[in-house]
Amino acid sequence: MILITGGAGFIGSNFIHTWLEQFDESIINIDSLTYAGNLHSLEILNKKELHKFILADINHFEQISQIINTYKPRAIIHFAAESHVDRSIHNPQNFINTNIIGTFNLLEVSKQYYNNLDEKQKDNFRFIHISTDEVYGSLSLNEPPFTEQTPYAPNSPYSASKAASDHLVRSYYHTYGLPCIITHCSNNYGCYQFPEKLIPLVIFNALNNKNIPIYGDGLNIRDWLHVEDHCQAIINILAQGKIGEVYNIGGCNEKTNLEVVNTICNILDKLQPRADKKSYAEQINFIKDRLGHDKRYAIDNNKIQNELNWAPQYNFESGIYKTVDWYLNNQEWVNNVISGEYQNWLNIQY
Ligand code: NAD
Ligand code: TYD
Repeated sequence: MILITGGAGFIGSNFIHTWLEQFDESIINIDSLTYAGNLHSLEILNKKELHKFILADINHFEQISQIINTYKPRAIIHFAAESHVDRSIHNPQNFINTNIIGTFNLLEVSKQYYNNLDEKQKDNFRFIHISTDEVYGSLSLNEPPFTEQTPYAPNSPYSASKAASDHLVRSYYHTYGLPCIITHCSNNYGCYQFPEKLIPLVIFNALNNKNIPIYGDGLNIRDWLHVEDHCQAIINILAQGKIGEVYNIGGCNEKTNLEVVNTICNILDKLQPRADKKSYAEQINFIKDRLGHDKRYAIDNNKIQNELNWAPQYNFESGIYKTVDWYLNNQEWVNNVISGEYQNWLNIQY
């Protein structure tokens, strides 16, 4: 049995789908269901009986301790976080509470749990912390991509809170011997992503006849990683990753925001043309830049490719087409997220 936090969010829910497609090992999912958590994303699971959802906040020491000591997982994969940069600029407090203090709580519980395991269980146990490339700061256009040796230089309250949590995880490995591994992935995209992030927001706004907001000049660059490729990388890391190590995971797909938005508009023009036959690109609206907006992120994948035999299977063209198609065919999921209907559903369920 493995335990994950944040399994009702975008990457966590995709991870559960991927895991249960490949394995018959059960998975405990702890999530406090913030606005970003959505159990609808787990409705059509393979082997549903192997997934157990538990409504809990990682900040609640007693509850988390009780869950971990009851289920005795062989690994903990920590996805739960506040994850949206813009929200962190408006209100950083939740980022400090969940990303830093919540991670600290989880580490404390995990340390106590680990210390009571027998030697064989200790050898098998892993704590995998899902971090971000944003802790490395911003690259100029001609700098080489981030490696695992790139110094930390977080620029937003979000990335600063993730950097702080990484340092805590590192210290629990070095000080207490907790078998931790830290991963830094680039911008993920794919199905079940909350439409506050660029790609699902563009699709939603385009289809709903709203402006498509592009910050600044649209020339900021992100390295897009399909979420299924990310989940497979985590599976490889759990199976073969070295304790105490750090792995960068990127999609090798550097694109400007403008390129991303235009690509989505072109796909929508083909798959669901506007009634007036004009391009969705007509809805693009350049707006005031994000405060402290990082110019460019890019990941050097060499370590995970060479040591763990992983490589992304999607290029941006195949991944974005599949993603747009998924959103077109799952507008009910999006509407539930937007309307808050899933929160009502939650009240009925739990
Ligand atoms: P998300 O915002 O979609 O989901 C986060 C999940 O965590 C939600 O289900 C939420 O309910 C849950 N959660 C939040 N606070 C909690 C708490 N206190 N206790 C328990 N559960 C809580 O995020 P995501 O995009 O799935 O990201 C997952 C992880 O990957 C995060 O740690 C994030 O920093 C990291 N990451 C994401 C991206 C990306 O592009 N999405 C890129 C790099 C790293
Ligand atoms: P986002 O999806 O929020 O991810 P991150 O900030 O973690 O990289 O944003 C991706 C890029 O898109 C980033 O450069 C900001 C930009 N962006 C816009 O131009 N308009 C928007 O409405 C959003 C949400 C993001």
